[in-house]
Amino acid sequence: MSTNTETKPPVDDGAIPNDPLTDHSYDGIQEFDNPMPGWWKMLFLLSILYSIGYWVYYENGITPDRSIIAAYDRAFAANLRLQFAEIGDLQPDRETILKFADDPKWLKVGQAVFQTNCTSCHGTKAEGRVGPNLTDDKWKNVKQVEDIAKVINNGAAGNAMPAWQTKLHPNEVVLLSSYLLSLQGSVPPGEGLKPIPGEIHEISDLTSAPAAEDKPADSTTKPAENNE
Ligand code: HEC
Repeated sequence: MSTNTETKPPVDDGAIPNDPLTDHSYDGIQEFDNPMPGWWKMLFLLSILYSIGYWVYYENGITPDRSIIAAYDRAFAANLRLQFAEIGDLQPDRETILKFADDPKWLKVGQAVFQTNCTSCHGTKAEGRVGPNLTDDKWKNVKQVEDIAKVINNGAAGNAMPAWQTKLHPNEVVLLSSYLLSLQGSVPPGEGLKPIPGEIHEISDLTSAPAAEDKPADSTTKPAENNE
């Protein structure tokens, strides 16, 4: 019975090939020393070569309009302009700004423009960073609703707040103003930047209905004289 097991090679029945082995063995398990298949190596090399071509074509920086981000920005702007045809040219007046402050669809556009251009200085929630908190009822350059659009267009404090007139579509400025109005009171007191020093106007009626349309604007913004 012992001769039987000794004469037969232990596993040479065709199931396991006789290829060279690596010289290590883990828990008695050994590994064949086979190369990767040629087709696999070709695919690997080709994908590396392709990535170089891809990078040179799309991301070289000399023709930046080819990058995916540029394509996205183009599509976004084109879509925005398409939609602007729907609302026409907006006037940056009190009535228009208040109207769009109640319009969830168009507020999204204002929000997108804000997130792209304004968060570096005003924070993602407009809670204030270098620029002031825009969600509280304290304003410095703003005495009435339409002043928000004016500040955005013309800038303030010697360009510490940049002028956006040449960089944004007039409709974007209006929708931004509406978006800022819609944010009034959204950041809990104490979480925003401290109010900017200087002359502060409190405008508590900013978000109320545009009832005061034919009254002089001053009558809606009385506290201009008394500080606090
Ligand atoms: C480079 C930084 C910076 C950027 C970017 C910036 N702001 Fe400002 N913003 C400021 C500063 C600083 C002030 C304060 C100006 C002052 O003290 O008079 C300000 C003030 C304002 C005010 C007036 C606040 C008040 O109480 O008078 C509004 C409104 C405003 N920014 C909106 C925006 C919007 C909308 C954007 C994006 C399109 C934007 N800002 C982008 C820095 C910035």
